[in-house]
Amino acid sequence: MEPVEKATISDVGQMHRLINYFADKDEMLPRPLSEIYENIRDYFVVGHGDRMVGCAALHVMWSDLAEVKSVAVTEEGQRQGVGSLLVESCLREAAEIGLPTVFCLTYKPAFFERFGFSRIDKMELPRKVWTECYHCPKFPDCGEVALIYSLDLPAAAE
Ligand SMILES: CC(C)(COP(=O)(O)OP(=O)(O)OC[C@H]1O[C@@H](n2cnc3c(N)ncnc32)[C@H](O)[C@@H]1OP(=O)(O)O)[C@@H](O)C(=O)NCCC(=O)NCCS
Repeated sequence: MEPVEKATISDVGQMHRLINYFADKDEMLPRPLSEIYENIRDYFVVGHGDRMVGCAALHVMWSDLAEVKSVAVTEEGQRQGVGSLLVESCLREAAEIGLPTVFCLTYKPAFFERFGFSRIDKMELPRKVWTECYHCPKFPDCGEVALIYSLDLPAAAE
């Protein structure tokens, strides 16, 4: 299996196709091309360009909070551990940056629970999260489940 790597600009078209393929099937929310370009540094991929098997993003929301989003693996590439590697890369980066809490909004809560994410009431997420929701075509009835994961980080130095 190819390693998890940071996405490059030439990966954006394929990531957009992959995410929106599943969005058309109501398995995740769509992402406009512009948003993927603007947040390209958030994205991890396994395989590049036409050989891309999966992608995922870690988006920083605030001093203590980040979101794992847009986790997508091609149908042929699923159930081989690619999705797990991508989520683990996001969690590792959150730890490296010093972010203690990661959340996700998903239609596949059971997949995330495997990593130790636990379900929370969406209303418990900070208001900043809702800013993105307001722009979503599915707001307010997307039906996504919110989950949160706490990283065991060393205490910050005074
Ligand atoms: C959900 C998704 C990312 C999982 O990717 P994947 O590469 O198949 O995941 P993995 O192979 O790493 O699976 C890890 C484990 O989770 C399990 N799993 C996979 N999809 C699951 C799901 N939808 N629900 C519960 N468990 C799931 C696998 O069986 C595997 O368990 P095992 O190790 O005991 O076999 C992939 O199915 C996908 O891209 N789906 C469409 C887009 C989507 O729904 N994204 C969700 C996040 S927004």
